[in-house]
Amino acid sequence: MTARPERIQDVSQAAGEERPLPKHVAFIMDGNGRWAKSRGLARTEGHRRGLEALRGVVRHAGKIGVEVVTFFSFSSENWRRPQQEVSFLMTLLRRFMQRDLSELHEANVRIRIIGEREDLEPGIRSLLEEAESLTKDNTGLTLVVAFNYGSRDEIVRAARKLSLKVAAGELTADQITEDAVSEALDTSGLPDPDLLIRTSGEIRLSNFLLWQSAYTEFHFSPLNWPDFDETAFDRAIADYCGRDRRFGGLSAKVV
Ligand code: IPE
Ligand code: IPE
Ligand code: MG
Repeated sequence: MTARPERIQDVSQAAGEERPLPKHVAFIMDGNGRWAKSRGLARTEGHRRGLEALRGVVRHAGKIGVEVVTFFSFSSENWRRPQQEVSFLMTLLRRFMQRDLSELHEANVRIRIIGEREDLEPGIRSLLEEAESLTKDNTGLTLVVAFNYGSRDEIVRAARKLSLKVAAGELTADQITEDAVSEALDTSGLPDPDLLIRTSGEIRLSNFLLWQSAYTEFHFSPLNWPDFDETAFDRAIADYCGRDRRFGGLSAKVV
């Protein structure tokens, strides 16, 4: 992999000064259905094209030196959709894990899956586990797939894990710190997202990374996900680079 550039050109233009690139970018890939509908196509075609957009974004992220990308691909609430659409989305995940795995592994990509696995078919579960274990020692881009993921569900599961440890005497209540909670989440060990991009013009989180996005910068794109390309990604990064992240403190410009 090429060395990670410390700065991006557009940054100085957008902000009047140079800012670091985001290390972790998370995506709410929304608007596949509307993309298809506006073309008179089936929603499933929108999902298929959405997977192609994801591949392009992963390649571009590796090229510009982003370290972690997270994609919201199926929420814990998406089971409410018609059975046919749910099963198509399961097939798409299976296809992605089967067809793209060797290429991703060769590109030194490390795969992480977040979300509840218990509800998934054993076949899909083992594909996810294989992808994680095959790529676990890779040192390039980390690709996080949020599948059957809901942030509240993740926080509840973390609370259960911690309470079991307290009940077993392995942890005291005082030891439940912010770090301990972060470590009990599915995203344990990953940095919080610096930038979260949602496509399709919707301005909400839909139960995605609620804990982790406490200080994340948000970018809402009007494009439907299948139309989100390298140019749109670069635009979002330039937008991020123009932000003043204060984390509750004061701007470097003010101090
Ligand atoms: C995002 O596109 C993909 C998933 C949620 C799986 P949608 O399927 O939500 O597309 P819209 O929002 O109906 O257009
Ligand atoms: C969020 O999109 C989930 C994914 C992108 C996987 P939705 O389309 O499910 O969100 P809502 O229902 O519009 O909030
Ligand atoms: Mg949607």
